[in-house]
Amino acid sequence: MVSTATQIANFNFDNCLMNAAGVYCMTREELEQVENSAAGSFVTKTGTLEARAGNPEPRYVDTELGSINSMGLPNNGFEYYLDYVIELQNQADSKNHFLSLVGLSPAETHIILKKVQESDYQGLVELNLSCPNVPGKPQIAYDFETTTEILTEVFSYFTKPLGVKLPPYFDIVHFDQAAAVFNQFPLAFVNCVNSIGNGLVINDETVVIKPKNGFGGLGGDYIKPTALANVHAFYQRLNPSIQIIGTGGVKSGRDAFEHILCGASMVQIGTALQQEGPAIFQRVTDELKAIMTEKGYESLEDFRGKLNYID
Ligand code: DHB
Repeated sequence: MVSTATQIANFNFDNCLMNAAGVYCMTREELEQVENSAAGSFVTKTGTLEARAGNPEPRYVDTELGSINSMGLPNNGFEYYLDYVIELQNQADSKNHFLSLVGLSPAETHIILKKVQESDYQGLVELNLSCPNVPGKPQIAYDFETTTEILTEVFSYFTKPLGVKLPPYFDIVHFDQAAAVFNQFPLAFVNCVNSIGNGLVINDETVVIKPKNGFGGLGGDYIKPTALANVHAFYQRLNPSIQIIGTGGVKSGRDAFEHILCGASMVQIGTALQQEGPAIFQRVTDELKAIMTEKGYESLEDFRGKLNYID
């Protein structure tokens, strides 16, 4: 029997596929649709201390090769999502989940994480260090000093399983420096990658999204090679106790297979989920299983990280 089951930090998942934060996760109704699909889990929209309306529309647009967005962190406030994952956790047959969080400042991040620490939530937390779309707020994970400071403080009080969502890095020296930072901490996982920040898509003579004069995060086909490179670079460099979640450019079983080959233990779908809806999880699962069957693989462990190089 071919299985796509996986584990992150001792949490079991029947399937390695799930949504990427930002897609199908703003409301309970959307999260319920992912919960009731073939996905193995869901992650909630990144929650801030207070609810936010986000940037003006149009702020997400599908393109031929993927998508561009500058949502600006619209969300219902982290407690909305915390309450929901606790509610599900208390149901017998519930899947395990990921709660995505970040503050608009380090101080706000610590207020949020201290509340999660004190809560009944026992699931996984994803700290988003890579939101590219809030005007005036640079991506935390491109600043290694600030990242080190935040994680040092976080791990002084936070004892629940925690991972970080990372932006793509583009230089080998940055892979080395980032991995050296993350290896100092008892992280459960790193999630590679968030959108490629601040692209620009033009239709005729005009930008296609309103915020930031059209600049926005790219997802979809544009980003798969960058995502695979980041998954594999961190797989090569991180302590084996830090698992990798692969995100970026997944719309087929072949794409998911490649992320796992690069070292991913779980695979998230963003743009293609937005375009196709939650039925995509069954389709991509079936395609991944067909590839595994053809190759004689029964579990993800049979090929995870086993990317071949040319001698
Ligand atoms: C938003 C976009 C991101 O890529 C992210 O990580 C968090 C928030 C947004 O614009 O809402």
